[in-house]
Amino acid sequence: MKNTANQYLQPITTKTNNKNHLEIGGCDLINLAREYKTPLYIIDEATLRSICKDYIRAFEKYENVQFLYASKALCNMAVLNIVASENFGCDVVSEGELYTALKAGMKPEKILFNGNNKTYEELEYAVNSNVGRFSVDNLTELTMLNEIAQKENKIVSILLRINPKIECHTHEYIKTGQEDSKFGFNMAEIDKVIENIQNNFKNIDLKGLHAHIGSQIFETEVFKDEIEILISEYERIKNKYNLEFTEINLGGGFGVKYTENDEPLSIYEIGEVIVSTLKEKCEKYNIQNPKLYLEPGRSVICTSGVTLYTVGNIKEIPNIRTYVSVDGGMSDNIRPALYGAKYEAVLANKMNSNEELKNVKIVGKLCESGDILIEEIKLPNPKKDDILCVFNTGAYNYSMSSNYNRIKKPAMILVNNSQSDIIVNRETFEDLVRNDVVPKRLENK
Ligand SMILES: Cc1ncc(COP(=O)(O)O)c(C=O)c1O
Repeated sequence: MKNTANQYLQPITTKTNNKNHLEIGGCDLINLAREYKTPLYIIDEATLRSICKDYIRAFEKYENVQFLYASKALCNMAVLNIVASENFGCDVVSEGELYTALKAGMKPEKILFNGNNKTYEELEYAVNSNVGRFSVDNLTELTMLNEIAQKENKIVSILLRINPKIECHTHEYIKTGQEDSKFGFNMAEIDKVIENIQNNFKNIDLKGLHAHIGSQIFETEVFKDEIEILISEYERIKNKYNLEFTEINLGGGFGVKYTENDEPLSIYEIGEVIVSTLKEKCEKYNIQNPKLYLEPGRSVICTSGVTLYTVGNIKEIPNIRTYVSVDGGMSDNIRPALYGAKYEAVLANKMNSNEELKNVKIVGKLCESGDILIEEIKLPNPKKDDILCVFNTGAYNYSMSSNYNRIKKPAMILVNNSQSDIIVNRETFEDLVRNDVVPKRLENK
């Protein structure tokens, strides 16, 4: 089965050039570091487009599929523009993500609004923007949504987010399908909710069910279980309440290769399992194949992204360890500090080096001992001013970045065919103080 970009440690265009520098998208990373400064996020357009195309091909045996890129993974206008041009819609979980998607030219009917605590203002904004689907998470939201739709004289199409109670073998903090979860309706409350919709919520058009069972998943069994639960519930509700159900959303969660030990599935394997299971279950429960939504985030964007850092201080503690400090850290990648995420990296200016490999710990420049990027890695004799390239930083890096220690958020560039373009500007000092206000009464003190 064809390998797909999520199964690689590096973007698909990665090469070593004749200067022994690493190259991505035909661009020498050392030149990029000089031109754009570091830390620097880089997105390889070819990798991003290739995985989008693989998703479309992998599911082409199913007649009606809409991919919704989970924009939480990385939300900016250029990335959303690219995925939209590959026929993806997107899922958003806030008015900020929605605003960005609309600004990027994403068609509102291809946007699905997710989230467990959407505010009245967010729902109002989304209804007024004619967002295609709402995945309704709870009764509070349903009540507000119906009220807004009534006020605007609209019928709003929704899916119900249910909690199928599936445990997936992934890190505890990114599990969302188990019973004890803040997300979705528990199965026991569904009938009450449907009755409520039928009796009280006249401006709601219930199209089907939605679930999302976790992230960075490497196995197919959980998706088979998810489909069985969703389709059996879909059939039960559809018949019991005589509903015009036509849609199902299986969420995202497909894995990527952060380290040699990770063995994510090819998108084609995922496609084959999901399509065959879905068809089989629809036959078993005697229902027509519903329209299928999938919401991959990490697997779409992660591998196309790398981060460049410049090495600064190196602290050798004899017989203990060597700390290699870089000019970024948990402000641009909080995942290692947040949940022990692991990454691979190289010194981009020392590819094919004969220098002795040293076991080092890569740490950031922020004032936390937990500001670690890589716990342990072998690098060829790291020195000040070397350029470290950390792989697989496309997902949940920039989107979780912060200004802790008043660090300016890095720039992001898009590379393709030897060309590089800024897609997110590096923050400036002015950006850092933009929202600060010194009250007048403090000025003369
Ligand atoms: C509802 C929903 N859909 C999609 C995703 C995307 O998951 P992933 O990035 O693992 O594909 C998430 C991630 O948390 C989610 O909560």
